[in-house]
Amino acid sequence: ITGNKGWGVRTLQDIPQGSFVCEYVGEIISEGEADTRQNDAYLFSLDDKYCIDARFYGNISRFLNHMCEPNLFACRVFTTHQDLRFPHIAFFASENVKAGEELGFNYGDHFWEVKGKLFSCECGSSKCKYSSVAMATTPEDQQQPSALPDTSSSSGAS
Ligand SMILES: C[S@@+](CC[C@H](N)C(=O)[O-])C[C@H]1O[C@@H](n2cnc3c(N)ncnc32)[C@H](O)[C@@H]1O
Ligand SMILES: [Zn+2]
Repeated sequence: ITGNKGWGVRTLQDIPQGSFVCEYVGEIISEGEADTRQNDAYLFSLDDKYCIDARFYGNISRFLNHMCEPNLFACRVFTTHQDLRFPHIAFFASENVKAGEELGFNYGDHFWEVKGKLFSCECGSSKCKYSSVAMATTPEDQQQPSALPDTSSSSGAS
């Protein structure tokens, strides 16, 4: 869609808050099996033991990107069984979404702790937590903004 994040998904119609949108479909595999797979881009972790790999089998959900201000959230759903190891992952709209907007959910801190070393977030939000700019700001800087030199008045008209 934009930037460097590859394919994405946008809605053709308005989606009311709370609507079911799609399910994360794929192969249910163990973490051990996941560790042997070459490409981890389409893994959705269910817990410590299992995950869903949408690389070889899947649906549109595999193209949902991470968004720091997401409009979808993932919900564990049980219908035909109550085996807590194998929830269905259903995405619902967390707000009213307008036709044409990109759809995405929050991949979570763990994803970015691992992947943040390889690439940064291209979600484009002003509140982006994992952009190259946000990642270059250490937690130390955030706690002590006064430790940074104040350059705010050193340029521009005066
Ligand atoms: C489930 S796939 C999403 C679809 C993917 N963009 C594609 O073209 O197939 C997850 C991968 O998309 C990319 N991605 C998703 N959200 C991103 C973001 N906010 N910024 C940068 N890359 C992102 C990353 O490479 C991530 O591993
Ligand atoms: Zn972001």
